[in-house]
Amino acid sequence: MGDIIILPEHIAIIMDGNGRWAKKRLLTKTAGHKAGASNLRKLAEQANKAGLRYLSVYAFSTENWKRPAAEVEGLMNLLRGYIQEYIDDTNKNDMRVRVIGRRDRLALDLREKIEYLEQLTAGKTGLTLVIALDYGSRDELWRAARKFAAACTKGDISGDTLDEDVFANYLDTAGIPDPQLLIRTSGEQRLSNFMMWQLAYSELYYTDKLWPDFGFKDMLEAVQAYHARERRFGG
Ligand code: IPE
Ligand code: IPE
Ligand code: MG
Repeated sequence: MGDIIILPEHIAIIMDGNGRWAKKRLLTKTAGHKAGASNLRKLAEQANKAGLRYLSVYAFSTENWKRPAAEVEGLMNLLRGYIQEYIDDTNKNDMRVRVIGRRDRLALDLREKIEYLEQLTAGKTGLTLVIALDYGSRDELWRAARKFAAACTKGDISGDTLDEDVFANYLDTAGIPDPQLLIRTSGEQRLSNFMMWQLAYSELYYTDKLWPDFGFKDMLEAVQAYHARERRFGG
């Protein structure tokens, strides 16, 4: 008899290790990213079927622009294809997609695709897949501060109303509950500028599995480890 594993509401994943996965196979980095993208597609589908409400994934950081141009281009093309496939599949899919991060440095066609997909899936009731793209936590925080300052200048809000909840509404993740669990693959134990505000009280889980090898079974293992921990919230 299989045990029933209760999923937390929101799981976040730093999908790391595509490069090492490719290297082990003497493949190009882009081939590694491709394997990573198809892994995400499969995992999101399984997580949706299992009833997970939110899955946030780190796809491209504000620092990843520093990578070789060919790799960045390969990644952008993959993301383009990824978004397009969701657009093509929206009728047979009940997933909602939200993209967090900057939009101003993305190619116009990619930006338009993202906006279209977000609109198209806004009313869906299944899993919300949050894709972090040109995302960095510090970048998100100063953009939020700027948005708030602009609203103050306009007279829409007064500065002394600012508190935790009000500020959270200026973040890209407005309306999305904080993740209970963060998973990072490939053995690295750092946040690399991912959701620093939102992860304040999340449980952190690290695994040596490289992202393209990380399956739904591995996610359930992480969830089991999460349940075995005692969350105290400072109390
Ligand atoms: C993660 O894989 C994907 C992105 C950062 C876009 P990496 O490309 O960082 O893989 P490693 O860390 O080199 O193995
Ligand atoms: C974090 O991975 C970013 C993504 C997974 C998109 P990196 O591989 O870029 O992070 P570092 O360089 O190991 O910190
Ligand atoms: Mg990496």
